[in-house]
Amino acid sequence: MVTLAPVQQNLDHAQETSIQERINRSTDELLASFPNPDELSAAQRRGIIARYTAVLEGNFIYWMTATYLSIASEEARAKIQENLYEEVHDCHPGMMRRFALAAHAAPTDSDFAAVYQDLMNVRLFLGRLSGVPNVLTMAFFEGWIQRFMSYLADLARLQGSQEFEYTDVHGVCDITHTAELYHALAAEMALNPVGAETNLFEGVDLLITLLRTVVNQASN
Ligand SMILES: [Fe+2]
Repeated sequence: MVTLAPVQQNLDHAQETSIQERINRSTDELLASFPNPDELSAAQRRGIIARYTAVLEGNFIYWMTATYLSIASEEARAKIQENLYEEVHDCHPGMMRRFALAAHAAPTDSDFAAVYQDLMNVRLFLGRLSGVPNVLTMAFFEGWIQRFMSYLADLARLQGSQEFEYTDVHGVCDITHTAELYHALAAEMALNPVGAETNLFEGVDLLITLLRTVVNQASN
């Protein structure tokens, strides 16, 4: 039997609820801060789609792979593997590219430059390969993306696009999927606990900074 040191963090039900509440609150605040698509210029709408694509197309599988490499529990591994399988098998980067092209918003050099530093910060954070913070960061992202899809679809529609496979596939509010991710987080915390001094939300905060850059640098 393995006895965990008292300074290490396990996830009881109350902690799981408080983590979910903190993540839901962050998601609500982030979405509420975004400008109304109707009030943006065409160039601003294009910029948001382009920067989002610059981040997601080439990095989501990288982020998930980093998370997969960092986890120790079988339960978390199975969950992340399922996600990676779907990303590769259904070619989600291709779906993302088609979405951007149809909205005439394929990312340019300046779109990549705008997100470069904040994106690097997220890559380097996930590259520490620390299981619990990585699973928690991706759990936040999975929940956030579902909520963001109607906003992204609105931007594309206003740009004259009729290509919504990407936003349809990712916008499904999958309660079971979210619950499984938090279950995986609990399993990882039990098997591979982090020290009490670890800021569990560091990755979430870095992602929020990146997503604010994607949406609020809307001037080009
Ligand atoms: Fe995806």
